[in-house]
Amino acid sequence: MEKDKLMEKIVSLCKRRGFIFQSSEIYGGIGGIYDFGPLGAELKRNLREEWWKKFVLSREDMVGMDSGIIMNAKVWEASGHTTAFTDPLVECKKCHLRFRADQLDDAAKCKEGGEHELTEEKTFNILVKTHLGPTEDSSTLTYLRGETAQGIFVNFKNVLESSRMKLPFGIAQIGKAFRNEITPGNFIFRTREFEQGEIEFFINPDKEESAKWYDYWIDQYKNFYIDLGIKSENLEVVPHAKEKLSHYSIGTSDIEYKYPFGQSELAGIAQRTDYDLTQHQKFSGKNLEYFDEESGKKFVPYVVEPSMGIDRAALAFLCDAYDESDGTDGREKGEVTLHLSPKLAPFKCAVFPLVKKDGVGDKAKEVYTTVKGCFPASYDESGSIGRRYRRHDEIGTPFCVTIDYQTLEDESVTIRERDSMKQERIKIDEINSYLFEKISK
Ligand code: GAP
Repeated sequence: MEKDKLMEKIVSLCKRRGFIFQSSEIYGGIGGIYDFGPLGAELKRNLREEWWKKFVLSREDMVGMDSGIIMNAKVWEASGHTTAFTDPLVECKKCHLRFRADQLDDAAKCKEGGEHELTEEKTFNILVKTHLGPTEDSSTLTYLRGETAQGIFVNFKNVLESSRMKLPFGIAQIGKAFRNEITPGNFIFRTREFEQGEIEFFINPDKEESAKWYDYWIDQYKNFYIDLGIKSENLEVVPHAKEKLSHYSIGTSDIEYKYPFGQSELAGIAQRTDYDLTQHQKFSGKNLEYFDEESGKKFVPYVVEPSMGIDRAALAFLCDAYDESDGTDGREKGEVTLHLSPKLAPFKCAVFPLVKKDGVGDKAKEVYTTVKGCFPASYDESGSIGRRYRRHDEIGTPFCVTIDYQTLEDESVTIRERDSMKQERIKIDEINSYLFEKISK
């Protein structure tokens, strides 16, 4: 299938089935912001939960936190974002549209005709400004956070003292970040409001140590995607060229994904050294050193930062899972299946009555209530069973349970697996343990 068509189909499925909507659509929308509908909200919640389980709950060297979106404006001066968080901007002198100078491939043709006539490049700061308090002057100017990372750095001492962690250890958080992107685009790939899952992993201040943890975190993040179903051949680790490094980094690699619109960044792993803590120490006047009991020395730790966009990950999982049948796999040609990992699928199970009458519908409702008590589940009684399977294949529901006349006799149901389309009969009181075993694999 043509790549453009594939992206169009994914965007259309996301809207039609309630994964993702354009924000404020009834008012004509707003550039670079999207809303997650009932299924999208579940998908993202599952993604966050898997991330939190893998990187926080299952590790002894990690703690989580949840900092405010708005911080003291000095945070962003200290971190360098008020001066260095910029993109190169050009404007067309004819149509006055603005573009990122390094992403001119995305620029449409000039609506005044012919090619754009571009101005000289200038820098554009992408921090989103706001005022907090009852006046709107420089004293109340602040920013919506451009990355969740700074909320971690400014709490380094608080977390260290309250949790008594020892190096090497990490602080993790998931939350919203905001950037006034010049050219948001490619659906939820580049937006102005998005979520990040970030870890600041504090280590001894040593370049070799930094390189070791850098490799480790690249592997950890790559495996996170692969374990949740992304095909490894669709991922590539791409180191940044020295001249492209962010103002805080001595080494960064992106994990790139082959999206339908081209290969691009999914996550970034950076060696931030002691840049941030040293800057905050300087600007706040507070000591942010770590005391190493073994050596009796005090120092500012280095940091390795694995950072992931949750929305970008949701997009990659959707693209990787999307499959249109060619008619040779037991499905009708053109039928869509989302091969999402059961861990990420919005519904884990759908319950269908074969017919509504003769007590079958009532029995199906009972089964649905039992399953829904343990797993996100859906009840569907309209159309043929085949149609109902197709509806749920299209949104990635991994298991469908059908209640029929035999159920009334022996308490057994048919359970059908999405990818293999295999069906088996199990007892009603086995459904939840069956689902638990398959989903937790
Ligand atoms: N703290 C480091 C940091 O923020 P980044 O490479 O600018 O680094 C990290 O962002 C991740 O956040 C990216 O790999 C990407 O997944 C996501 N991200 C960045 N800008 C984004 C945007 N405008 N829309 C959606 N996701 C974005």
